[in-house]
Amino acid sequence: MHVQMSVIRLSKERDQMIDLAGAHSILNVKDLQMDSVELDQRIADAKVRLGERVVILGHHYQRDDVIQFADYRGDSLALARVAAGLTTAVVIIFCGVHFMAETTDILTSGDQHVILPDPRAGCSMADMSNLQEVEECWDVITQKFGLSIMPVTYVNSTAEIKAFVGRHGGITVTSSNAERILTYALQEKKRVLFLPDQHLGRNTGAKLGVSLEDMSVYNPAAMELEFPHGEGDSRLILWKGHCSVHQKFEPRHVQNVRKKYPDIRVLVHPECMYETVQLADEYGSTDYIIHAVQNASPGTKWAIGTEHNLVNRLAKEHPDQFIISLNEMVCPCLTMNRIDRPHLLWSLEQVLEGNRGHVVTVEPETAKWAKLAIERMLEMS
Ligand code: 13P
Ligand code: SF4
Repeated sequence: MHVQMSVIRLSKERDQMIDLAGAHSILNVKDLQMDSVELDQRIADAKVRLGERVVILGHHYQRDDVIQFADYRGDSLALARVAAGLTTAVVIIFCGVHFMAETTDILTSGDQHVILPDPRAGCSMADMSNLQEVEECWDVITQKFGLSIMPVTYVNSTAEIKAFVGRHGGITVTSSNAERILTYALQEKKRVLFLPDQHLGRNTGAKLGVSLEDMSVYNPAAMELEFPHGEGDSRLILWKGHCSVHQKFEPRHVQNVRKKYPDIRVLVHPECMYETVQLADEYGSTDYIIHAVQNASPGTKWAIGTEHNLVNRLAKEHPDQFIISLNEMVCPCLTMNRIDRPHLLWSLEQVLEGNRGHVVTVEPETAKWAKLAIERMLEMS
């Protein structure tokens, strides 16, 4: 019961946005019925009319028909950097998920506002930890181990978790800088609490030489530590969260694809489980995966374990290589896919009409502490 509640719990701001979306029909039925050519044309026209006042940021996992309109495309680290440098845009439309829009709001000025075209575009992983649970965890682990613990959170977390981390001397991390940041954290403190993705934490810790026995798992439902590989020193305390998309790439998929294509290279994201990563030929962040394919020779065969939209796009962009998903049955990230052209068009036209649309704002005290944790990361990346 407790687990389910923690999984579906949304941030307060997003709850309010979703209520709003329900109260007023967010999309005109006409917009949904518009044909594809007309939709593209109206989005392009709105962008021209809005000019430099509006910037569209798009994460690599977005659908092709949406990402084509992004002024900047990137992984979460790259987009956080772009957001921090945007000085002239008044409105930033974030085609991605809620925690990314929150990060953008935190890194931009009070005069700029950030719009998430569909407020239901959350991230199931980010929703697997909330502030109350993290505070309970902190009590449990500081009572057991003392205060020499640094909290480190993957940016795939709510602003309030980032703020908790900032307040407790910690730092955020993305999949592209996880090794560097975790190395620093383990040097600074005896132990690290890694939130909310146990897989990124475990894969990165193992790469840095922390043994599996020295990693424990904090289960927020039971409010206790688990020791899946035997009780060692708990240098790394992993929050029991995961990505519902990347968790679907299992060791058996690596074995199957290798049987079918003996010369294939298996390349996976570190949100995949440890056993899958261990069997892969290489692993790395979204950015790493894109560069690995860009730098490969024609004829290279890849089975890639990451979000479907990105894998399909890589296959289209590199027809001289053979690129498939490591598990063809995995769906695209459903929440990333909530951002579609009708929602993007609606958001742009709201701005044109002088309305606000689905603005994401982080309350100032939370933003202050979350920013500290994010800036510590940006300085080190
Ligand atoms: P990146 O940090 O690689 O952009 O990943 C974000 C994400 O949501 C992965 O599932
Ligand atoms: Fe969240 Fe996973 Fe989707 Fe990334 S792919 S946004 S971690 S649910």
